[in-house]
Amino acid sequence: MRSIAIINQKGGVGKTTTAVNLSAALAEAGNKVWLIDMDPQAHASLHLGFAMEEEYLSVYDVLTAEVKLDEVRHPIEPNLWLTPSHIDLAAAEMELAGAVGREIILQDRMAEVAEDFDYVIFDCPPSLGILTLNALTTANEVFLPLQPHFLALHGLSKLLRTIELVGKRLNPELTLSNVIYCMFDTGTRLANEVVDDVEMFFVDQREANSIWANAGSFDTRIRRNIRLAEAPSHGESIFRYSPDSNGAQDYRSLAAEVMQQSLPEMEEELGHYQHESADEFLPAQSFDYHPQSIHEAFIENDLR
Ligand SMILES: Nc1ncnc2c1ncn2[C@@H]1O[C@H](COP(=O)(O)OP(=O)(O)OP(=O)(O)O)[C@@H](O)[C@H]1O
Ligand SMILES: [Mg+2]
Repeated sequence: MRSIAIINQKGGVGKTTTAVNLSAALAEAGNKVWLIDMDPQAHASLHLGFAMEEEYLSVYDVLTAEVKLDEVRHPIEPNLWLTPSHIDLAAAEMELAGAVGREIILQDRMAEVAEDFDYVIFDCPPSLGILTLNALTTANEVFLPLQPHFLALHGLSKLLRTIELVGKRLNPELTLSNVIYCMFDTGTRLANEVVDDVEMFFVDQREANSIWANAGSFDTRIRRNIRLAEAPSHGESIFRYSPDSNGAQDYRSLAAEVMQQSLPEMEEELGHYQHESADEFLPAQSFDYHPQSIHEAFIENDLR
């Protein structure tokens, strides 16, 4: 299983559009996909046409009450499930202030999940608060959507340092695996220059063993496409709203790249299963846990 947090503290760079349409594309290709909406704005839930009823629970209840994640998962389309968000989630930050282990609540809840999925995808809010932190401690990968304009690099090194801190202290499995260029204006000089700058930035920052040591960018560029902007107001993924649009084509192509990356892991899992490795029974690796300092770093780095 790959669990992927879609993160950028900048607003409006294409996180939700990517979380929803990548999830839908992976599901369309036959994978079992679970999208978890971590943003109080609930844009991913709305984009998929999920109507929140009063009696429904959301991620808020998972983080603040003893509610299991399995109880807050709704089928949306064949192969696609959603855990919705709710505006209440905005209060979670304050409500959890002072709660011991508040960074790893979701991680604990995920450990109780009985069902297996091919992909779990977290749509994160545009900030580095407790909600994003919970996604980062639960996921094993980060996808970083970037909009190629001249401020794309602004704040990136702090974001990388924050992800690294979480990886070192709270989630040793975490890696920043991929950059996704969204709202790409093909043919413009600026877009291509920004891509070059980002590639250079990663080369400059690369250090052995860093959490982004193997980060790359997907070949697929998500082009600016009006159908992608229209689909949310119809409560449909791009594949239902406009299956032949450039937007649908781009997200299918992105999903194909993501699946291509999963092949070695799937083979490994199959081999592991066939040979029954004894490693499975070893205790999990231990690591330093300093919740207070991590949380402070998050607040400090919050570049909203
Ligand atoms: N490739 C695209 N072409 C055209 N419009 C797009 C594209 N990707 C996203 N949009 C639109 O741009 C706006 C911002 O996108 P989106 O909501 O995905 O960003 P976000 O990073 O999730 O924002 P937030 O930080 O508020 O959560 C939305 O109106 C969306 O429909
Ligand atoms: Mg969003």
